[in-house]
Amino acid sequence: MTRLRIRRGWSRSSPRPYRGAPVPGGFKDPSFQRSLALFRAFRHEQDDPQTCYDLLARDAVDQVEAYDGPVSGRTVVDVGGGGGYFTEEFRKRGANAYLFEPDVHELGEKPPDGAVIADGYLLPLSDGVADVTFSSNVLEHVADPQTFLSELARVTRPGGLIYVSFTNWLSPWGGHEWAPWHYFGAERARARYRRRTGKPAKHTLGENLFAVHIGTTLRQVRARDDVTVVSARSRYWPFLAETVVKAPGIREVATWNLLLILRRCPP
Ligand SMILES: C[S@@+](CC[C@H](N)C(=O)[O-])C[C@H]1O[C@@H](n2cnc3c(N)ncnc32)[C@H](O)[C@@H]1O
Repeated sequence: MTRLRIRRGWSRSSPRPYRGAPVPGGFKDPSFQRSLALFRAFRHEQDDPQTCYDLLARDAVDQVEAYDGPVSGRTVVDVGGGGGYFTEEFRKRGANAYLFEPDVHELGEKPPDGAVIADGYLLPLSDGVADVTFSSNVLEHVADPQTFLSELARVTRPGGLIYVSFTNWLSPWGGHEWAPWHYFGAERARARYRRRTGKPAKHTLGENLFAVHIGTTLRQVRARDDVTVVSARSRYWPFLAETVVKAPGIREVATWNLLLILRRCPP
């Protein structure tokens, strides 16, 4: 297992322009083919999670590399990484990637070597150890997203990249397994889920799922002095991925999943 290296004072702060990320099959991001491939994979999330999350992980790491160059040799911290699909993909590409996940059940049966049980609010890491801090679909599961972001920023080196994506509450997928019925109220949607499937829903609003909005999040992130916003875009949208996020109101429904690419400012 590679040891976490601390590179103090090392700076690669010049932001790279987004070069477009190819996904398996050679599709550009954004493009219809890419979104279709991801959509098809999502439809099999339950019966074939490996294929679904392998594709999603390749896609997300392509996005990181498109903004920040190859991850090989870099230190990557995956916070709330679940079963570790993303950590494994970073490692395949030569990164020193580490998984931090608070819920042992989410780790599954075969977590990546060296996975750490840890809460994203309080990571057992020194300041500035990570070249890339990565958090996919975690922000809507924490009660205090801004404190969570502060911790991501703290462990990222100045000039390092922070990848944060989340499904906002008013997204058609905002209610997760009880979507899109969350538009009619969370409790009603949960009750409906239980009636239809015969099992309790995994998520409860206010306990492990929170109503995070794009406008509020953008205002709060732009007001921070520890990060700059490199990009705010729809993670999966096939076209106008950044434009859709600029339309107040519409963006809350149309973005589906907001991807924030942040860069750590010098302290
Ligand atoms: C929807 S899953 C996402 C898993 C994986 N990142 C992905 O994109 O497939 C949400 C994850 O957030 C984790 N999580 C919830 N609260 C957290 C916290 N305070 N710190 C870090 N992770 C947290 C959960 O345990 C869960 O693994």
